[in-house]
Amino acid sequence: MNDILQELDSRRAQARLGGGQRRIDAQHARGKLTARERIELLLDEGSFEEFDMFVTHRCTDFGMEKQKIAGDGVVTGWGTINGRMVYVFSQDFTVFGGSLSETHARKICKIMDMAMQNGAPVIGINDSGGARIQEGVASLAGYAEVFQRNILASGVIPQISVIMGPCAGGAVYSPAMTDFIFMVKDTSYMFVTGPDVVKTVTNEQVTAEELGGAATHTKKSSVADGAFENDVEALSEIRRLVDFLPLNNREKPPVRPFFDDPERVEPSLDTLVPDNPNQPYDMKELILKVADEGDFYEIQEEFAKNIVTGFIRLEGRTVGVVANQPLVLAGCLDIDSSRKAARFVRFCDAFEIPILTFVDVPGFLPGTAQEYGGVIKHGAKLLFAYGEATVPKVTVITRKAYGGAYDVMASKHLRGDFNYAWPSAEIAVMGAKGAVEILYRSELNDPERIAERTKEYEERFANPFVAAERGFIDEVIMPHSTRRRVCRAFASLRNKSLKNPWKKHDNMPL
Ligand code: HXC
Repeated sequence: MNDILQELDSRRAQARLGGGQRRIDAQHARGKLTARERIELLLDEGSFEEFDMFVTHRCTDFGMEKQKIAGDGVVTGWGTINGRMVYVFSQDFTVFGGSLSETHARKICKIMDMAMQNGAPVIGINDSGGARIQEGVASLAGYAEVFQRNILASGVIPQISVIMGPCAGGAVYSPAMTDFIFMVKDTSYMFVTGPDVVKTVTNEQVTAEELGGAATHTKKSSVADGAFENDVEALSEIRRLVDFLPLNNREKPPVRPFFDDPERVEPSLDTLVPDNPNQPYDMKELILKVADEGDFYEIQEEFAKNIVTGFIRLEGRTVGVVANQPLVLAGCLDIDSSRKAARFVRFCDAFEIPILTFVDVPGFLPGTAQEYGGVIKHGAKLLFAYGEATVPKVTVITRKAYGGAYDVMASKHLRGDFNYAWPSAEIAVMGAKGAVEILYRSELNDPERIAERTKEYEERFANPFVAAERGFIDEVIMPHSTRRRVCRAFASLRNKSLKNPWKKHDNMPL
């Protein structure tokens, strides 16, 4: 009996070595942790249960039959994060560069199927050269099996991808279909084809960092939702994110203990909006002052900074925040900010996370660049996302809510449940200057008259009361009481039940 136990021990030890000590050392030398070290940091201590440790590939081409490594380049299983169950796969770059073979894919599919059946998130740690070249179409088939599962799981269980090495081909398309993608600065890359292929095909010379590094994907392409300094920080931030999310679409998000009075008033908010309507202020200050303990998990912080998206808690319960940011482009909506916020709103709605919207928006950004880029369709994405969302929606207009952007930003007309405005709100078709120039074109050569008209317009429309008279604003609230009002609003909506008409699926303007 002892012999058998010893054999198991030694087989396990061998499997844990992956591609061998030399390659593990190389991984460490690059500042990267191994697949198993990453799982240990991601999950609660001692909670990991592994599947398929002894699975090997079945390829016999290119002498592969002589190179079989237990586990076949991916560590899979389940464990807990702060006591809540998650499934995880972690690709092992020391084994054929973490490339995906037929059996490697089967291991991932197995845990994805279990995650779907048991209603728990899947976290994928990606460190992979893509399809295993030696296996040809068998590995492509493996990827497609993973893709199909990503698609079916979308909106059912949260799927989170962490990119922790050079990822190419299929290794980026599977993450692309998950809810969130995070990268590690300086050690992770994402591209469909690497710099060498780019050079051959287009004659373009580009480094891996420029083509697909963390800065590229968090600031330019918006493929990634965030980037962290190193593996350790990335994994601890994923733990923090998971704490905000429900395990699946049939459960509410978790309720955490909180140590912040929901009645807390913030006198400083009464002077947040400057007297001069053209002067910016930092909308994040409002978010932090409203959130439990000032805790805000921002999504896509580096992209389309004219809109802010992320998670906070109110009375211990997760709330998704969308807020125009007057500090950048005066908080205008444009192509990038509409796409960013629309995707976030849809995630929240899919997973029963209520949405809090802070509005200070002068309108859509005008110009040929926006029109040629299709701002009509991209802006419509955000309109569509808010309009179809059935989760509790609470909106606070702090200052400008002009034109179409007023409608878009979770207005009453898009089934906003509580629509509040601060006394500084200005709700109108457009700003006073633009309106007067159109309405009184014939008087434009009389500056005094125009100044008078502008003043008249401002007095009549640059306030929240015209909208409040019609019931489009439920109440004009004191800025200092925003946290209390918003907490009470969401508390009253905990049993909200709203259903859209039956359909196979909608046809949102993609
Ligand atoms: C088999 C691979 C591999 C792969 C890397 N290796 N990629 N083995 N299949 N796809 C192996 C290497 O042979 C090497 O083995 C080890 O992994 C480490 O690779 P290096 O090249 O030494 O590492 P590095 O210099 O860090 O470069 C990493 C890399 C590069 C950028 C990922 O290896 C690379 O470009 N690989 C190919 C990427 C690719 O084109 N994949 C196919 C994508 S097509 P040893 O034994 O020396 O340790 C695809 C289609 C899917 O995925 C469908 C999408 C819709």
